[in-house]
Amino acid sequence: MKRHKSDVTGVQRRLFITFEGLDGAGKSTQIERLLHKFQAQGLRVVMTREPGGTEIGNALREILLDPKHTALSPRTEALLYAASRAQLLHQVIRPALERGDVVLCDRYVDASLAYQGAGLGLGSEEVARLNRFATEDLKPNLTFLFDLPVQESQSRVLHARSGSAPDRIERRDAEYFQRVRQEFLRIAAAEPERVVVLDATASPERLEQEIWNIVANRYVDLE
Ligand code: TYD
Repeated sequence: MKRHKSDVTGVQRRLFITFEGLDGAGKSTQIERLLHKFQAQGLRVVMTREPGGTEIGNALREILLDPKHTALSPRTEALLYAASRAQLLHQVIRPALERGDVVLCDRYVDASLAYQGAGLGLGSEEVARLNRFATEDLKPNLTFLFDLPVQESQSRVLHARSGSAPDRIERRDAEYFQRVRQEFLRIAAAEPERVVVLDATASPERLEQEIWNIVANRYVDLE
């Protein structure tokens, strides 16, 4: 079985990759493709998502996305996302990394900084503090940001939904999603080593190739 470079060099560096961006950016397609590429390399991979990924997280997800919860306050919302994340970390992510598995996660702390910190105006430092507690400050070593204009995101979401009702977050207005997008880009500019910005309007084939080039370059021992 092949190993990722960390094992080969004996450094024991974990491989924890997250995917961020507005809805409709094509993250899930690319996560699936990357999963198969890793598996083809003989690596064990755990794929998960937020909010959710555990039974408790899925219960929190229901509360968070159900449009009937109009009374949910911004702080409560940030706490519930953080709670789902803490459970996922405890139950899935940390054990997988300790086993030496690759972990691919659809959204993580950056999503809270963007959607709750910037979008709802809670402030990214406050939300970062909450999330340092929730995650024991466990950071991904690589994050792909699927950058997409807000209008494009909204028309893709509308198309994909094909008649079903928008969830509680999708109901927010374009200015809200502009703040979310700008915050993602701010994070990427502040942490260029960790965050790779992708043009999510590119074709799925091109995105797949770009992602694999970056991952293989950094981490995978491709003979
Ligand atoms: P979901 O249907 O999972 O969106 P996607 O499949 O596109 O990831 O819904 C999750 C929603 O929750 C999405 O609109 C983004 C939002 N979200 C936050 O607001 N804060 C967070 O910390 C996370 C993880 C997600």
